[in-house]
Amino acid sequence: MNINPKQPTHPSTPPHLGKHSLKDVIQALTSEEKINLVLGTGMAVDALPDDLQGPVVGDVDGRVPGAAGTTVAIPRLSIPALVMADGPAGVRIHPQRDNEPDKTYHCTRFPIASLLASSWDVDLLERVGRAMGNEAREYGIDILLTPALNIHRHPLGGRNFEYYAEDPLLSGQLAAAMVNGVQSQGVGASIKHFVANNHEWNRYSINVKVDQRALREIYLKGFEIAVKASQPWTVMTSYNKLNGTYTSERRDLLTEILRDQWGFTGLVMTDWFGGDDAIAQMNAGNDLLMPGSQKQQQVLQRALVNDELDASTLDTNIENLLRVIQQTPVFKAYQYSDNPDLKTHAAIARTAATEGMVLLHNRAATLPLSPKLTIALFGNSAYQTVAGGSGSGDVNAAYTVSLQQGLAAAGYTSHRALGDDYATFIADQMTELPPQALFRPPPTIAERSVSPQQIETVATQVDMATISIGRYSGEFADRNAENDFYLSGTEKQLIEQVASTFHSRQKKVVVILNVGGVIDTASWRDQVDAILLAWQPGQEAGHAMADLLSGRVNPSGKLTTTFAMTLDDYPSSQNFPGDVLEQTLSKQALLQQSQDDNMKQLFNVEAAEVSYEDSIWVGYRAFSTRKLHTAYPFGFGLSYTTFQYDELQLSDKQFEKELEVKVTITNTGAVAGKEVVQLYITAPQGNLIKPTLELKGFAKTECLAPGASQILRFTLGESDLVSFDPDTDHWVCTPGTYCIHIGASSEDIRLSNNVEKTEETYLPLEEFR
Ligand code: BGC
Repeated sequence: MNINPKQPTHPSTPPHLGKHSLKDVIQALTSEEKINLVLGTGMAVDALPDDLQGPVVGDVDGRVPGAAGTTVAIPRLSIPALVMADGPAGVRIHPQRDNEPDKTYHCTRFPIASLLASSWDVDLLERVGRAMGNEAREYGIDILLTPALNIHRHPLGGRNFEYYAEDPLLSGQLAAAMVNGVQSQGVGASIKHFVANNHEWNRYSINVKVDQRALREIYLKGFEIAVKASQPWTVMTSYNKLNGTYTSERRDLLTEILRDQWGFTGLVMTDWFGGDDAIAQMNAGNDLLMPGSQKQQQVLQRALVNDELDASTLDTNIENLLRVIQQTPVFKAYQYSDNPDLKTHAAIARTAATEGMVLLHNRAATLPLSPKLTIALFGNSAYQTVAGGSGSGDVNAAYTVSLQQGLAAAGYTSHRALGDDYATFIADQMTELPPQALFRPPPTIAERSVSPQQIETVATQVDMATISIGRYSGEFADRNAENDFYLSGTEKQLIEQVASTFHSRQKKVVVILNVGGVIDTASWRDQVDAILLAWQPGQEAGHAMADLLSGRVNPSGKLTTTFAMTLDDYPSSQNFPGDVLEQTLSKQALLQQSQDDNMKQLFNVEAAEVSYEDSIWVGYRAFSTRKLHTAYPFGFGLSYTTFQYDELQLSDKQFEKELEVKVTITNTGAVAGKEVVQLYITAPQGNLIKPTLELKGFAKTECLAPGASQILRFTLGESDLVSFDPDTDHWVCTPGTYCIHIGASSEDIRLSNNVEKTEETYLPLEEFR
């Protein structure tokens, strides 16, 4: 093919996007423009090696400083540049701009995804999505790079905080709600990272080996639900290889499964610098390469000349992009305000945080606290509360309310001298810390050890104690077992000493887990009176914690991830994070060209492999089937009231095409509250071995007054009963008895009933809901 960049293939007056057909617009593009369109405009980070640097073409668009990426504009055809920003805890842009000393561009920092998920409340996620989408739109963003819905396969996954759950149904339905919320504001969402990107170690190169059944039932399933229920404008492919090939280079994944089987009609983009082979990516249906590099530009140009890349393939990729562009605010010339309603969004962030915190332990009704107590606040994170994780999931918010501030605002008095000591300690330590390196988590201060004498003195002067345990994690690194999943020696000592001193004076001790993911609780929980899993609750952290501690809000969050007794109990621990292989990678050579050590480490790529030998045995599927004892099971969470489950009714004894399930939930306690109710099935064993429990539905009651009841309804379709049979490449529904369970958690099944399925049925892939 002859490419002459100067010569458009369309005659005289050029067509305009929106006024003329996409075909005409595409025809009018020069080959050079076509290639530029499928590449972002690059990333201007000095430390990146030259080949990965922007600008690819013209200048990196400065419309929204700090946004993650931009596509190229072609004004003569009325094609505007798209601006994309992260997600998922809020909009990530620079809070300040050159030459505007008096104006700020802060965004609302919402709670992390794991907290939002623990609300089990699709309406809440949609509401948060609407607020985030609105903020994106008002700051001039066209695509918000959220939600992230990779499965919590292992607790040490460094980005689990950005993800929802260990269960695909829950992840998929929550992601769909988030997408619907964001997109209701006229900006696009991007579901990511497609697929099997479950940890950070060697993420740019790792080959993830997953069997077909686990792939369909666990790792693809959430994406499938989200695509079908919300039609996200974009899908972001993941960094990893899947069974030998980068996900961004797999046509079976991006075209056959995503588009042909699931009906996706939007745009597929890479994760930033993802994959290796730009031609393979184009051919696979990965329409846009982000953030775009000069190397990719050269490769694609050559490929077009040498006929290694078909012109019609490129046209299809561009068509997918243009279809999305036509829906965006920038295309519609939306006049954004740069002034979103941050106050209203802060209130939404606070409500959301209270809905997803989980009360894990509450001996002798320690919580809620009586009003106006004097409290000794132990733990750095009571003062330097962790609002969220780092990396692309970070948000430049105006403030974070600490636990100390939140309790003060709620009328509690914290022990002043202890607080002053922590403040001095934190300030001193801050001066010692190295500056935060690009894309890295903020350097953290190790927990302060408090002398037994000080604990003793403080205990005589207050009514009770809290101990805050804080954790940071973020992109680019997984968490550690020691001093992270397991508490550090100082933290253990602090809990032991505070608990024994306060208990000897009949005073209570409450632990607040200000964490982004699962941590050990089994080894110390018996020493304390209550544990609130506050997660990383966003900028309104302290207010939301105080809302629950004081009982202003009754806890209703439940776990979306199993808290095991030990790290080794997770089946995935056998293969986490994987093994290094002896191979040289082209990508490795490229990234090592950087002169910057931090950059080299961040982009560290070794040839590596992990085999998901745990297959479908992820989370509660494994724990329930193997009858493994947990610290706190999937679906678990306490309330300040109690609920009774009655009158489970199935619409039929035989399962034909659908089954209606009804249950009545009654608040039997003394205070108003909401209950998360879960529907699990136990499927009959056939050729495919079935987990003891699989979540097939969930609902949250409204806030029920004491004595009030609500009927919850669930509908099960045939596709809820199927398993993926890799031998026939079909979803199969085994005949036999299906047990329908209604539970308060995966270990607290309250009601069960059976339904019979007489015939074996196969669902072809396209018909699978
Ligand atoms: C992350 C994505 C993010 C992108 C753009 C990547 O490093 O994996 O989740 O959207 O950067 O910031």
